[in-house]
Amino acid sequence: MHCHPERSAAKSKDLRLLLELIRKLPAPVAPLSRAAVLAASSPPASKRGPGDPHDSRPGGRRYEFTDKLLASLRPNRLGWISNSILAFLLAFGLIASAQTADQAWLGHSGYHGPTDIPIFAKAMGPGMLEKSAENELYGGIGRLRKASKSLPDGSIDGRIVLGTAKEMQLHFPELKIPADLEPDGYWLQWFEHNGHPFLAVVGADERGALYGAFAVLRALTQGQDLHFSALRSHPAFPIRWVDEWDNPDGSIERGYAGRSIFFEGGNVRQDLAPVAEYARLLASVGINGCNINNVNAAPQLLDSEHLKQIARIADAMRPWGVRLALSVAIASPQAIGGLATYDPLDPAVKAWWNAKTTEIYALIPDFAGFTVKADSEGQPGPASFGRTPADAANTLAAALQPHGGIVLYRAFVYNHHADWRDPKADRARAAYDIFHPLDGAFAPNVVIQTKEGPIDFQAREPVSPLFAGLARTSQAMELQITQEYTGQQRHLVYLAPMWKQVLDFDLRVNKQSAPVKEILAGKTFDRPLGGIVGVAGVGRDAWLGSPLALANLYAFGRLAWDPNLSPEAIAQEWTRQTIGTDPAVVRSVTSILMQSWPAYEAYTGPLGMQTLTDITGSHYGPNIESSERNGWGQWHDADSKGVGKDRTVATGSGYAAQYPSELAKLYESPATTPDELLLFFHHVPYTYRLHSGKTVIQHIYDSHYDGAAQAAQFVRDWASLEGRIDPDLYKDVHARLEYQAGHAIVWRDAIVQYFLKLSGIPDEKGRAGHYPGRLEAEDARLTGYKVIDVDPWEDASGGRAVSCAEATCSAEWTYSGQPGRFDIAVQYFDLQGGTAHFALKLNGRSIAAWAADARLPSARPHGDNSTRYTATGVDLKPGDVLRVEGTPDGTDPAALDYIETVPSPPHRN
Ligand code: GCU
Repeated sequence: MHCHPERSAAKSKDLRLLLELIRKLPAPVAPLSRAAVLAASSPPASKRGPGDPHDSRPGGRRYEFTDKLLASLRPNRLGWISNSILAFLLAFGLIASAQTADQAWLGHSGYHGPTDIPIFAKAMGPGMLEKSAENELYGGIGRLRKASKSLPDGSIDGRIVLGTAKEMQLHFPELKIPADLEPDGYWLQWFEHNGHPFLAVVGADERGALYGAFAVLRALTQGQDLHFSALRSHPAFPIRWVDEWDNPDGSIERGYAGRSIFFEGGNVRQDLAPVAEYARLLASVGINGCNINNVNAAPQLLDSEHLKQIARIADAMRPWGVRLALSVAIASPQAIGGLATYDPLDPAVKAWWNAKTTEIYALIPDFAGFTVKADSEGQPGPASFGRTPADAANTLAAALQPHGGIVLYRAFVYNHHADWRDPKADRARAAYDIFHPLDGAFAPNVVIQTKEGPIDFQAREPVSPLFAGLARTSQAMELQITQEYTGQQRHLVYLAPMWKQVLDFDLRVNKQSAPVKEILAGKTFDRPLGGIVGVAGVGRDAWLGSPLALANLYAFGRLAWDPNLSPEAIAQEWTRQTIGTDPAVVRSVTSILMQSWPAYEAYTGPLGMQTLTDITGSHYGPNIESSERNGWGQWHDADSKGVGKDRTVATGSGYAAQYPSELAKLYESPATTPDELLLFFHHVPYTYRLHSGKTVIQHIYDSHYDGAAQAAQFVRDWASLEGRIDPDLYKDVHARLEYQAGHAIVWRDAIVQYFLKLSGIPDEKGRAGHYPGRLEAEDARLTGYKVIDVDPWEDASGGRAVSCAEATCSAEWTYSGQPGRFDIAVQYFDLQGGTAHFALKLNGRSIAAWAADARLPSARPHGDNSTRYTATGVDLKPGDVLRVEGTPDGTDPAALDYIETVPSPPHRN
């Protein structure tokens, strides 16, 4: 990710070594066919192992057991060499794949841990996952040693040996490998073999061995040594998938990181190197499945031509144990199959799905299954024929069952034309109302996939009651890693603390403890399947588009493996691997990450009001009324007297009763509902007193001011890292946090001025509606600029702004405040479709100039694109003339909201 000039000298030395190696290579042989790769007798592992007679590296020695192995491996030495060279090249940064897993957290560039690590890794079995594990250890250890900048003399005596329990027991009978390792699990043991130290990485199966290898690398990045004693680990859930919402044209639904790594122009991309790298990244945190296409599925992806292309994606992910899944449109038999119907109970429809599934398995023998979005947001479904989700799911399940595939049927089914006048109509009820009555009706290989809350990935929702409502059905929880409603990767929001709350949440089924994580693990209701699915949204722009957002992908995998991990520990782990191991760095980055979700919630929609974003548009900036008076059902019911959606049984939609009795009772009364969810369950007057002792309206004011202040503090906290971390990363994240702090003010002011106007109740602390130092554009002496109304009004200070329809325009104010040194913020709208330019002048002298070239949603001026530029340390005295000049470009009219003078902090004086 970040290029260190000082490394280039080392690189050229590495390059010479490499050329030396290449000269010694035998002539190439033809690569294996895919069929051969897939065959059960997959090609033997072929990396040079410990004891290789040709091993001239210091410390290389012959061991009896490996001699035997080597005899069988020698014909495949080329495979070893090419793999090792690749690992070498990647490890030492000699080839730059455009997009690599190292850019996320496998680069280990900040490592400062011990370097006395065995450098030889050897797979005991022939499978491709073990080969990946072997190469990963070799490459990873190389990177760590390189990153440590103090390479040891190579006299480390030790070997890492890996394989399945069966293989390892065969080669190392002295190991006391537990007989009951769980699927995908591993066991690590430091031991002596023929008088030499060895580390055994024992997998219950091949995936387990691979995950064990990554665990070893992770441990090293955390500064741990490798003297493991019977360290055993296994995943909590069998289903640990990411969903990508990619479209065949290369766009990504709710993706904020550029275009698809899978598709372009209607087809699978030729270059699937990033896909393999992504699978490697996923495997490093134990993810075992990836659904590659939008849940709003394009039916044509199931045609024969596309399936052949998709098989290449499966091939790219297979060496990392990541199985491919597809989202399917229930209407496919009609849309692409030429049938007159897609009724799931029609025999011809069933036959079509059977044949299609057989075709898929012929191409992708380890195909994982189908994800289904049906009867939802315009997607066709079984309801068109009076059939139930169980009818549709079971038809697909029957087709997949002989091949070992599963159906993940989404519970995200609701009517988006609901009547907002009807207090009983409540979107939150839909999943439970539809799926609970079907409990027990689903085939064993169907899993109901439910979003963590009853609405749609809001900054705060209660946990979906459906998790408690399906006792005879396997379940998966869907989380969103891509930050659709949580700042779209432009805002830093580390979501692990939210996910952890959900996973730990005790639904009290039959008055017994029933944490969500145990329901998903199949423990509560004794289900064989279950798990967790994260909608990832990775793209070609550095995976998630923003460096710190990758902590979410990492944390998702870690929690999917072990929901008992703490979000804080995960943040520390990720930071050490990605940014640096300096304790001060780990402390600061972790602290910013941990505060980021509460801060975001505070400056967007607190008290369970939901995010208050533009619900029918971008889902990014504030737009409070967009979730009212329409059929989408995301209502907060704010009026002049009070706010909140009444979901009680007594007077509201009755949603509260969907929870097991203890929780139903808790949520039925405002007195027992936690403050953070009050307005999700209750409509209360603004003067209602929270458990905190504050009134609702005062909480709304306070939390927005506090949240925005926290966002500003993140910038200062990050600034403390300057000089301690990679300079490019420092600058990149600093700019992002500054933007976020500015946009948090947009949020703060929008929500605060809206509720001030609606309620008419002043802020006890006198802030709402009073903006010291603010000079509105509409009050300025304008040349060319025209005053406009901004829609929604709350997104602009005072509801109005100015927009330029000339070649250039200006707004001018005469400063009349105290003399002193100030930071001058300019609030402008950075619209799509052009790069407007701005200049800030003081008494005719230019003090700042910048381009409005950010990529923000919307081509209209409002909260999505309201942006803050701050010129720091400007000396002002009464009578000074401040002037902003705006130069439009394309469809960007250089619109301007206000300027604000804030005394510079003392350290800048
Ligand atoms: C959200 C999102 C949609 C998506 C839907 C889903 O509503 O905005 O883009 O299709 O969730 O999960 O199906």
